Amino acid sequence: MNGSRQIDNHGRLRHFLSIEGLNRKLLTDILDAAESFSGVTEQTVKKVPLLRGKTIVNLFFEASTRTRTTFELAAKRLSADILNINITQSSTVKGETLLDTLRNLEAMHVDMFVVRHADSGAAHFIAEHVAPHVSVINAGDGRHAHPTQALLDALTLRDTLGSLDGARIVIVGDAVHSRVAHSNLHALTTLGASVVLTGPPAWVRAFDGWPGVTVEPELEAALHGADAVMALRVQLERAAGSGVPSPAEFIAGWGLTAERLDGACPTAWLMHPGPANEGVEISAELSTAERSLIGRQVENGVPIRMAVLSRVVELGR
Ligand code: CP
Repeated sequence: MNGSRQIDNHGRLRHFLSIEGLNRKLLTDILDAAESFSGVTEQTVKKVPLLRGKTIVNLFFEASTRTRTTFELAAKRLSADILNINITQSSTVKGETLLDTLRNLEAMHVDMFVVRHADSGAAHFIAEHVAPHVSVINAGDGRHAHPTQALLDALTLRDTLGSLDGARIVIVGDAVHSRVAHSNLHALTTLGASVVLTGPPAWVRAFDGWPGVTVEPELEAALHGADAVMALRVQLERAAGSGVPSPAEFIAGWGLTAERLDGACPTAWLMHPGPANEGVEISAELSTAERSLIGRQVENGVPIRMAVLSRVVELGR
């Protein structure tokens, strides 16, 4: 088997690198498992022994608040041991290569790496080079994929709407630079939703022709009939030189405000993966409005990551 393939020859999840290629049944099974893990979070003792004896390493080469901490909590609630490697204080600053770092950690008999990296494809690269008993979970790589974010978004929508089948989900903003958008397009369409993408043409036109996806550059037209609206973070660090509008032009055309949503889609829910540039992609008042699901998205990060960790480690039991 090619080491970077996430499904092994027996149909089991060897790694979790991308939503692309995963079928509806597998995604639904993970959402269902997450729903049952939500109960653990409500217990007095928030722990189950499912991953006792397993060692997981959080290997974050890029900043994170939500993803790193919810993976850590998920691992602890499953009774795994988890190490957080502080890359800025590791020997990578002395020139140790990525593969050297992996080899050293593997020598400590770890079972899984949870990887966040600024380079697209980094998680696949690591999956190609780990020992056969080690699994890799992608916690966000460049603009490529953020598969557990897409699953927690899908769980939040399923909890709120009852089903994703036939739902109209509008994604607003910098889709082309967004790993969240790429993973969500795969997850939401596989689960039966239709997705409308809106934003400056340079940020959305690449998705014209995707199955289940409509590109509508004009915001008001896109919002009409929406069940939920997902704002994307404007990737200020990745957008330079790509012929995109200034922040002021983006705000004027696509910045989400209560007034705009009340006018075009008064019952639509609001989502944002975070971290948000408040006053750019969403107004400050919207992020805490009654229609905002942003807190629920973060909350669902723990059970979704419990479901993914337990599904991947299943292989080694
Ligand atoms: N949504 C998300 O990935 O947030 P963090 O960068 O804080 O992990």
